[in-house]
Amino acid sequence: MCGIIGYTGRSESLPVLIDGLKALEYRGYDSAGVAAAADGGLVVVKKKGRVAELEKAVAPRGFFSRCGIGHTRWATHGEPSDENSHPHCGGSGRITVVHNGIIENYLALKRELADGGVKFRSETDTEVIAHLVQKYYEGDIHKAVTAALGRLRGSYAVAALCADFSDTVIAASYHSPLIVGLSSDGTYLASDTSALCDRADVLYRMSDGETAILRPTGAEFYLDGKPVVKKAIERSWQYGGAGLGGAESFMLKEINEIPRALKKTADYYDGGFFDSERAAKTFAGVRKIFITGCGTAYHAGMTGRALIERIARIPAETDLASEFRYRKPLLRRDSLCLFISQSGETADTLAVARLSAGAGVRTACITNVPGSALAALCDFTIPTLAGAEIAVASTKAYNCQLLALYRLAFHLAYMRKRLSKSFYKENLSVLSRIPSAASAITENAYRDILPLAEKYKNGRDIYFLGRGLDYYTALEGSLKVKEISYIHCEAFAAGELKHGALALIERGTPVIALLTQGELKEKTLNSLAEAKARGAEIIGVGKTEYIADAGVFDGRLTLPDTPDLFAPLVSVIPAQLLAYYTARARGCDADKPRNLAKSVTVE
Ligand code: M6R
Repeated sequence: MCGIIGYTGRSESLPVLIDGLKALEYRGYDSAGVAAAADGGLVVVKKKGRVAELEKAVAPRGFFSRCGIGHTRWATHGEPSDENSHPHCGGSGRITVVHNGIIENYLALKRELADGGVKFRSETDTEVIAHLVQKYYEGDIHKAVTAALGRLRGSYAVAALCADFSDTVIAASYHSPLIVGLSSDGTYLASDTSALCDRADVLYRMSDGETAILRPTGAEFYLDGKPVVKKAIERSWQYGGAGLGGAESFMLKEINEIPRALKKTADYYDGGFFDSERAAKTFAGVRKIFITGCGTAYHAGMTGRALIERIARIPAETDLASEFRYRKPLLRRDSLCLFISQSGETADTLAVARLSAGAGVRTACITNVPGSALAALCDFTIPTLAGAEIAVASTKAYNCQLLALYRLAFHLAYMRKRLSKSFYKENLSVLSRIPSAASAITENAYRDILPLAEKYKNGRDIYFLGRGLDYYTALEGSLKVKEISYIHCEAFAAGELKHGALALIERGTPVIALLTQGELKEKTLNSLAEAKARGAEIIGVGKTEYIADAGVFDGRLTLPDTPDLFAPLVSVIPAQLLAYYTARARGCDADKPRNLAKSVTVE
């Protein structure tokens, strides 16, 4: 949520900042701004709207600078507007800051500063930081930023610039990510690695409470006023080059990458990943697993719970991270808390990870960013190798999270001697065939799914229905449709329909029914017959034999032949594609849906 970029070096800073903001735009896109040290002062340009608007506004300003900071915003305090865009300046106009996160005590600080005569120009919490830095500035900008941060409660990633130090950027991070990058050309700062991989040779992730002084020749890190020696982020975990590569959108590109992402992730696990000593230590003697995540990751967790209970026979629960953190859960020493997060920086998930670590419980995470704050907090990290996911709607990361959960469930079952070696291997070999099943869907998507999207694009509602594992897939499908097409969409457990939701069904209401579980097929078909009798138009998604009934289905999306247990890995793909094509048919920007941003780093 919100993206920060910074640069100081030998090159002109403005193109670096604008390029960086474009790469980070998926983190927030309601306004953007830059500040650069030039001609003994600061030039600040900020604009409501996308980075492209900022680029147009910057071009005629005609200044040259080798040091600057930039920001792309997802509004928390104050509507998207030029005034509320970052950077924000202190009263002298010679100090400016950009900020991600939320300052919880900003109102008290604002009152204090206003009583001292400070005039505020925006409604943001960030402006408070700028004025505090100004207040504490006595010729040492690092000291002033450190003093200002000492007054804040909440979370922040901050970059500051002072006209008196025209080649220096000050950075600070607390519960909000910041990466520092070094190259022979200069020193960089960004909210995530994807903006820096192609520019910097070495990357460092700032830890909670750290500050950094960035100069053209390198960076110094400090914690509690003392210098810190940092370990670089492993190269293999840095995702770069996340360009469109000719695709019409990131979301479609990322759906089409599902087969490759699954294969890469499976190959990585095949290299003995789950056999490590660390894995053994994390999972030995675990009697209960608490799974948490948000949004799509939560849906993966719901499937994960079912898999772990069914395959490994370990009791498991799945909760939304935002609920779990206030639930006062009964965690015991033999519990394992498992977090799922594509980004590894979702605020609610991180809060639960901190809470669990504080309770002395074993922790593990499934994340697409192994160098993330979440991974740093956990005893054990199960990486997914989906590659950078840029579209706000999570797709390929979800399929890979599921794969990780299957592998974990089978591994736990094998460890607990509930699965013989040969059976264990047999299941892994089924998993190795999933990428080609996924390809079969993505390759025919245009033919099969586009007509449905055209048909339903002007509808008021779409419902997804499923039972057992299909219910969790239905939940994920409905999230995809609503978040990018803005059509009201809900998922129901098929058995629950007649307990209330059936009242919503009218003549022509589209119902996407998932049928991948043979043992539940008859029961789902009964629920569908009830919906059909009330006028629902039913599209079956499943194996040929499960959706053959001519009396029920108005349309069919046939899935490749995959054993029932493994179906969730592929049955979600038609839903992901339906969401995408429906959004496209309605003229919505699928990559950057309104009101949302990737990586929700505030509570
Ligand atoms: O990075 P995370 O997996 O922790 O993100 C969790 C959710 O914010 C995310 O899945 C969100 O729901 C997506 N927009 C869903 O497509």
